Amino acid sequence: MAQDTMDAPAQSAEDLAGKGRLELKKVSKAYGDEWEQQLVIDELDVEIRPGDLTVIVGPSGCGKSTLVNLIAGYEFPDTGEILLDGNTVSGPGRDRMVVFQETALMPWQTTYQNIVFGPKLRGELTGRALQQEADRLLAKVGLSEFKHKYPLQLSGGMQRRAELARALINNPRIMIMDEPFRGLDAMSRGLMQEFFLRLFEENRRTNLFVTSEIDEAIFLADRIIVLSNRPAKVRKVIEVNLPRPRDYKMLNSTEAYNIKREAMAILHEEAMKSFKPSGASVKMATPVVGGH
Ligand SMILES: Nc1ncnc2c1ncn2[C@@H]1O[C@H](COP(=O)(O)OP(=O)(O)OP(=O)(O)O)[C@@H](O)[C@H]1O
Ligand SMILES: [Mg+2]
Repeated sequence: MAQDTMDAPAQSAEDLAGKGRLELKKVSKAYGDEWEQQLVIDELDVEIRPGDLTVIVGPSGCGKSTLVNLIAGYEFPDTGEILLDGNTVSGPGRDRMVVFQETALMPWQTTYQNIVFGPKLRGELTGRALQQEADRLLAKVGLSEFKHKYPLQLSGGMQRRAELARALINNPRIMIMDEPFRGLDAMSRGLMQEFFLRLFEENRRTNLFVTSEIDEAIFLADRIIVLSNRPAKVRKVIEVNLPRPRDYKMLNSTEAYNIKREAMAILHEEAMKSFKPSGASVKMATPVVGGH
């Protein structure tokens, strides 16, 4: 019988429906010792809907990666609770896979070996079944021809796609991406966004995507959560009602323009707070987006 424990990944791609509801309830996290505490996340309440692509945007250093680490179970909240499909997150698990900006591929292993590493180690998928699943995912991310290449022989975009395949072989309930395309050149980044959208739109696996690029957020998201400056709190939740499948041209629509203007104004206001010298009052200019 399929066990619905916290660590249990979805059983198959067809089994994803309704999976991946993530709830953060009054989550707080501080770093430092008791003499010099830095509050990074302050009683954050967030709900990620199953089947949604939720994008988190926030000013640099506001606590986005800290949030990812908490959800991934690499770190623990000081107060509050994180639930996935009703079960408390109490450590890392295959039900939540994370793709970071920095490549996490093992350089001494080929693309194929990297992808099969986890399931092989756990002895879950073996022999022919493992080979078939790895080949299916390699084809899906367009890397069949690069199966026997090492990470250093792949471009940045290819490395990200290999990481996606490596995460997907675990069939997680939720994929968590922390600025995965940062550092890629503009062309590769655009292509990766489109590729990633197609992958998401195929089976709508619940996805939490962190970025600091507002255009990327609008292009990808069903919902954008705009965070405040540190300590991170939710400033605004914006529904993105652009149709799917998405097309890059939709970024020129009035809907996209209005979202961009609203989000940019909040992000600018929040980012300025980190420049504010303590005790002094700083007058902030209103940002201008596009025309006039
Ligand atoms: N392990 C840690 N120990 C101490 N402080 C930490 C730790 N991790 C993060 N911080 C601090 O928490 C704050 C938020 O960092 P975090 O990396 O979560 O921000 P971010 O929003 O992801 O930033 P960026 O936009 O640069 O990716 C920073 O001030 C950082 O110095
Ligand atoms: Mg970060």
